[in-house]
This record gives sequence, C-alpha cells and structure tokens, in this order.
Amino acid sequence: MLGVIGAMTEEVQLMRAQMTDVTTSTHAQTEFMQGTYKGTEIALAQSGIGKVNATICTQIMIDLFKPKKMVFSGVAGGLLPNMRVGDIIVASHVVQYDMDLTAFGRRHGESPGRDRLIECDPDLVGRATAAFDAAYDTVLTNNDFQPPSLMLGTVASGDRFVQDTDTLRWLQREFAALATEMEGAAFGYTCHLNGLPFAVIRALSDGASETATGDFEDNLHKACQNSFHLMDKLIPASMSERRSGERRGPEFRVA
Ligand code: ADE
Repeated sequence: MLGVIGAMTEEVQLMRAQMTDVTTSTHAQTEFMQGTYKGTEIALAQSGIGKVNATICTQIMIDLFKPKKMVFSGVAGGLLPNMRVGDIIVASHVVQYDMDLTAFGRRHGESPGRDRLIECDPDLVGRATAAFDAAYDTVLTNNDFQPPSLMLGTVASGDRFVQDTDTLRWLQREFAALATEMEGAAFGYTCHLNGLPFAVIRALSDGASETATGDFEDNLHKACQNSFHLMDKLIPASMSERRSGERRGPEFRVA
C-alpha cells in the first residue's frame, strides 16, 4: 500500500478520478480513500492546508492504512529566478523554516533532538526522477511543447503563503531551498518519526514574490496537471520490486 496525500482539492482530484474499487472513510473530519490506481493499492487523502493539517492526516493514514511508503504531491512557490511555472521539484530534503528557537541560540528550522533538514527516501526520489523521464520525454523537443524542468533540492515548509522577495531570498539563502509550500516538512517529519520512506513532489504555481497570490490562482490548474502527470507514472512504479542493477536514486549523504 502506497499512501498519497495532497493539501487542496485540485491537488488530489485528478488522482481520485483514476482510482477504482474505492472505499471512503472519514477521520478527524478528513476523508480517506482506499482503492487501486492502475494496479497499485493506494490510500489517498486531502489533508487541508498547513503543517497541522498535514501532520494529523499523515499520522492517521499511517495508523489506519499501514502504508509501506508515502508521497505528498501538490504545488509550491519557486525560489530561484530562472524557474518557470509548471517546473517540477522533487524534494531531496524538507525543513520547517518557521521553527524558530533562535532565542536559545539554535538555527532557524532546528528543534532539540530533531534533525534540521530531513532527508527524503533516496529510492523514492530516484523513482520520481525516473517517472519524470517517463512522463516528459525531454529528448523529443522538436515541437512547440516546452516540457517542464526537473529540480532536486530542499523544500522549505511553513504556515505562511510567501509573497515577498525578502522572504523568498531568505529561504533560498538560509536553507538553500528551491521551493516553499505549507505541508511537505510536516508530512516528512511525521513519516520520518514513523520510520516510513517518503517523497515530496511539487509543481511550481508561482515565484513566491509580490505577484504570487494572483500567479497562484492563475497557474494552480496547470501546476496540478504537471504534478499529476508525474504521479501517474510514479504511483505504479513506486511499489514495484527493484530489478538488479536498476538505478537506485541519488546518495545525499557524504560517507
Ligand atoms: N504553495 C504554492 N505557492 C506557495 C507560496 N508562494 N507560499 C507558500 N505555499 C505555496
């Protein structure tokens, strides 16, 4: 069983439409759907926006559906100037940027007894990048279709919609973050503390600058389509057995 979570209706409805044999149940005012996605058993839920909602939803899904792996999919604000709407970010790490114990000499994002950055599962990250290759045949570009770019890096999460250049630069400089959103780190911490492999997949809806609110509204649909296009390939690939010699995904840690 693969656990899949998105925050908003738009982020889960495309996946929901492809599920078969669906049974639904409601826990903590959150609807959970269990069923099959192109042959893969999944549990799917819409968490609602923000870290508290993401944490509650993730823990309930883990407790009730006993998934072996977890993926969070949705949209984010990009933090680098050369990024484009629809580009895909596969998180290598997640960080709660608004955890602030700097008053006690700690770094932003750091809390006692916890890692500041949580590493996503390299195997799932590798499967997600392979799914990107399958979803967007980037070699075939002799037509007008502009495929999105793929970037791997840190995703910074906080309970705030970022729409100012100072904050976006701070997130980039302080955490070397590529994108910001409002759930990934809470989801990731919860999976990590439960010992479950997890990945966070995001498509960019805006640039987290002063025009972000309007950009988000204009681009939400397109960004959701791009993250869904990748999820459509990743879900069936996520639980398959690895063949010997198959690419294993990046190694983030320096031994
Ligand atoms: N999700 C999409 N865009 C975002 C932004 N600019 N800030 C926070 N979450 C987002």
